[in-house]
Amino acid sequence: MIRFILNNKPVVAEGPPGLLLLDLIRYKEHLTGTKVGCREGDCGACTVLIGEWKEGRMRYLTATSCLTALGNIHHRHVVTVEGLNLQGLNPLQQAICEEGGTQCGFCTPGFIVSMAGFCLSGQAPTQANARAAVDGNICRCTGYKSIERALDKVVELLNEAPAVDVMDKGILPAYFKDIPRQMKALLLEPNGVLHGENGRAIRGTRDVSRKFLGGGTDLYVQQHEVMEEESGIEFLSAGKEWKGVIRQGDHCIIGGAATVTDLMESPVIRKAFPHFGDYARLISSTPIRNIATVAGNFVNASPIGDLTIFFLALDAQLTLSDGDTSRELPLRKFYKGYKQLDKRPEEFIERIIFRLPGVDDVFHFEKVSKRTCLDIASVNTAMMVRMSGSAIGEARISAGGVGPVPAILEAASRLITGRTPDSGLVREVIAQAQEEISPIGDARGTEAYKRLLLGQLIKAHFLTLFPQLPVADIMEI
Ligand SMILES: Cc1cc2nc3c(=O)[nH]c(=O)nc-3n(C[C@H](O)[C@H](O)[C@H](O)COP(=O)(O)OP(=O)(O)OC[C@H]3O[C@@H](n4cnc5c(N)ncnc54)[C@H](O)[C@@H]3O)c2cc1C
Ligand code: FES
Ligand code: FES
Repeated sequence: MIRFILNNKPVVAEGPPGLLLLDLIRYKEHLTGTKVGCREGDCGACTVLIGEWKEGRMRYLTATSCLTALGNIHHRHVVTVEGLNLQGLNPLQQAICEEGGTQCGFCTPGFIVSMAGFCLSGQAPTQANARAAVDGNICRCTGYKSIERALDKVVELLNEAPAVDVMDKGILPAYFKDIPRQMKALLLEPNGVLHGENGRAIRGTRDVSRKFLGGGTDLYVQQHEVMEEESGIEFLSAGKEWKGVIRQGDHCIIGGAATVTDLMESPVIRKAFPHFGDYARLISSTPIRNIATVAGNFVNASPIGDLTIFFLALDAQLTLSDGDTSRELPLRKFYKGYKQLDKRPEEFIERIIFRLPGVDDVFHFEKVSKRTCLDIASVNTAMMVRMSGSAIGEARISAGGVGPVPAILEAASRLITGRTPDSGLVREVIAQAQEEISPIGDARGTEAYKRLLLGQLIKAHFLTLFPQLPVADIMEI
């Protein structure tokens, strides 16, 4: 049984745990404000809020219900557009109406839910943050200017009296005040189905038919019909055990089920990578980042997985476990061929560990895609450099989209070691990188384009990490 709160009422869902939240909302609960568009996470028409009891308060994040399994909302508060306007239009809906931000109205519920997610996020109420919050919502007919004006109105409202609670501004209905009490009661209920009596999401079993699920943003796009029927799904995102980002000495440990948003909000990551927010904003969209996990990105084994490329350059190590025994494996050895992994079917990624950059280390990530937001990379790459005085002590360049697997450019990385950065070195590294890659032409660009792109991105690494280098010389390479 999956128990959760849907808007203002408790629900016990009897459907299979792999059923999509979107289908439960629309076809069982008949809340048709949540729309079905692409069913692939691209349009945002199905956006809902998912609230979780975390560190003594409710934390609400947007999610695409078309990729969210019921098993992942056990003991959560799900809010649809109907749950935001029980007595009439709320100020977000009012702003959309006043600014002419809706025509056919198909996308509007998704925009309203994303706007509510922004109001609850605790982010600074700025225009830029408000616009970024709707990066997962597409409107085909109204034009974005009127939606932006509505967002500006919401920002004004939030800035009027920042200390006043969003409930007092009428953004959320009054029933939200009682949700923490209901949630605590729900969490006290005994249930062994998903978490077990000691809160574990998984028990040890060597069953080779195990099906692990993180956020579902890859699995539900690829095989949603299979997943709906699947009975033995292990919901790694449903519990707390496989999440979290902590510092241990000079290392960082990340739970396999930590999401991109968890990384963005982590003080450890933000301190170690001051530009992480800029990198992460190039990954999917807010509602996808809120549920997409780090381990899901690694196991999906896409040659252009952004987190994979990021962590490869950091020489991250994986802890693979079957629930009883575990083993360590460097991420760079995880990929044996196109979508082939050094992983037994019964093993899951429990955690990821890497050495945090120290005072002598610099790091940079680059991604180029056809669109800036909500698009996968044509080519992506990261570079980590450990300085030794004015020379480079050690370096690692990762690259995606230029071969069958996300990879480390071993020889190009070795070439840098012990050298002083200058334009001659950049030329050599680009030439060596061309020897190591084997891109193919596809919808994301021709082979020649991807080769050129990687060269340009290597220049970008050097120019960003060593700003003293002569830009003109390097751009001539
Ligand atoms: C609209 C959209 C945009 C996207 N944009 C990007 C993008 O810009 N960049 C990018 O890199 N990706 C992108 N993705 C892909 C996807 O969001 C990421 O790969 C994400 O990190 C997958 O994580 P997940 O938890 O959703 O994986 P899931 O779908 O839950 O799982 C993916 C695979 O990993 C396995 N798995 C999950 N967790 C574990 C674990 N702990 N141990 C072992 N196996 C596990 C599953 O069994 C499955 O085989 C996008 C996806 C969508 C739908
Ligand atoms: S239906 Fe398009 S994102 Fe869910
Ligand atoms: S109002 Fe029609 S798609 Fe946005």
